[in-house]
Amino acid sequence: MCGIIGYIGPRDISSVLLTGLKRLEYRGYDSAGMTINNPDGLATFKAVGKIMELEKKISGRDLAGNLGIAHTRWATHGEPNEINAHPHLDAKGEVAIVHNGIIENYYALKDFLIKEGFKIVSDTDSEIVAHLIQKFHNGDFSESVAKALELIEGTFGLAIVQKGENKIIAARRGSPLVLGLGEGEMFIASDVSAVLDYTKRIIYLNDDELAIVEKDSYSVKNLKGEEVNKKVHEIKWTLDQIEKKGFKHFMLKEIFEQPEAIINTLRGRIKEGKIKLSLDLNMNSLKRIIIVACGTSWHSALIGKHLLEKIAGVPVEVDYASEFRYRDPLIREGDLVIVISQSGETADTLAALREAKARGAKILGIVNVVGSTISREVDSGIYLHAGPEIGVASTKAFTVQVVDLLLLALFLRQEKGLDLQKDIIRNLETLPEKIREALGQSDSIRELAEKFVNCKNILYLGRGLNFPVALEGALKLKEISYIHAEGYPAAEMKHGPIALIDKDMPALFIATRDNTYEKILSNMEEIKARGGEIIAVVNEDDKKVIGLAGSIIKVPSVSCELTPVVNAIPMQLFAYHVADLRGIDMDKPRNLAKSVTVE
Ligand code: AGP
Repeated sequence: MCGIIGYIGPRDISSVLLTGLKRLEYRGYDSAGMTINNPDGLATFKAVGKIMELEKKISGRDLAGNLGIAHTRWATHGEPNEINAHPHLDAKGEVAIVHNGIIENYYALKDFLIKEGFKIVSDTDSEIVAHLIQKFHNGDFSESVAKALELIEGTFGLAIVQKGENKIIAARRGSPLVLGLGEGEMFIASDVSAVLDYTKRIIYLNDDELAIVEKDSYSVKNLKGEEVNKKVHEIKWTLDQIEKKGFKHFMLKEIFEQPEAIINTLRGRIKEGKIKLSLDLNMNSLKRIIIVACGTSWHSALIGKHLLEKIAGVPVEVDYASEFRYRDPLIREGDLVIVISQSGETADTLAALREAKARGAKILGIVNVVGSTISREVDSGIYLHAGPEIGVASTKAFTVQVVDLLLLALFLRQEKGLDLQKDIIRNLETLPEKIREALGQSDSIRELAEKFVNCKNILYLGRGLNFPVALEGALKLKEISYIHAEGYPAAEMKHGPIALIDKDMPALFIATRDNTYEKILSNMEEIKARGGEIIAVVNEDDKKVIGLAGSIIKVPSVSCELTPVVNAIPMQLFAYHVADLRGIDMDKPRNLAKSVTVE
């Protein structure tokens, strides 16, 4: 979740570094800093708060230099202040490092360094890397770095410069790091968006790889010093895909991109009524599926369970990745573990993947970011092709994950030689239009949001396939508006939570027609009878709910398997408008980061 950018080349160093940091702001930050290597040595500037504070610090200074590194920090050790901001230097001021990750043996290394006479000035774990490199300094920059890294346990994405050295060293273990290849210039970054202004040619570093980067050349080695050949990827994302395209926030842009995102994920995957997925996994021996994920991706996993069991007839378990990895999971012959992750970098999900793999499971990934760590460690995968999701609150990734899980269910059914439900495929092909209709309610949803902008709590209630949508709606609201919201199975209300109901505890029901519709109506009666205010998401032609709910949000009818996708749209819009009306910048909600690469 910290952001790293490094540059070596002829451009104005500080402007390249600042532009890169601004592209990475969405990753979460509380402070920022940069180090530029110039003829006099290393010049370092740091500031707490937004990037513009750092900009103020360096404005008007002559920052001539041919290379530099910079960092936006999302604190894991040590409070946000200038001392704890990166870059961190050794005591002589000759080595500067920026770090993303967690050094798990930090205390032991800190004690070791202090006993050796080193002075640690910050409260961060990262600082010790600079001192270790200095300790092993023997004239060979990359060798001293490799020796330092061998002592480190935990995760790192690092960019390192040394006084008098005309190169940058990058190294990664567990935290993403890419090289951007230019003409007479090179870039290092936590993710592609920071370098797309300058190059589309990208190299993804793998764990325990170290890159030595000069302005006209680079080499990649493992920690044993052996050369590693790396593939150069040509990035398809354009900058305007990353820019807001005229929307007020990335989140709103991404909500409205969902029709195109679904068109993109379906492209080439339905042909003449058949599902085309190139999964090099032996599905015939498939006995059980376990899906592991976090947050919003865990919600789509819950929907995936319904779809895979009903359509493909395969038993499915769903688990939080963070729980799965520590519960000594039973993996048996014929188990397939599916990992779902938008970023492909979530530490808990990556660790669960590795745990499952170590126990012999085959791994299928459903991931958005091409080339991300998870996407490179699975045995097979389905890319979302949803385009970059910059807003911290996941929206288009969620709906596309559900569509891809449905495609997978249909594909497994097809592989079993069972007939495909043609109505589902027909609904899939018309889904983008249905989503556009649901998006058309944005203005009326904003009016509704005005009624609830000051409420303190909201209950989200749904059943069956729409219970996970209730969970997702609640997560959206709480993570961007800071209003407490709770998703619950509608029938469960009577087992305790209904005690919460009064005029100040509105309940939002997902009440589109399916096999639990009549039951939902009686759940509404229970709430109405206790003076609870009801908001309901209903089909356009609904006649029954209107008498029960004080506020209605209409959505188009689709086959029941696709109701979670269409019903998610008003959840996203309601949360967005409430947060916007509360004056919150929901692209960077407090305490949150787009990709949680720490455990
Ligand atoms: C979703 O709105 C949240 N930002 C968060 O729960 C997110 O879904 C979770 O951290 C998992 O991220 P991933 O899909 O990139 O693994």
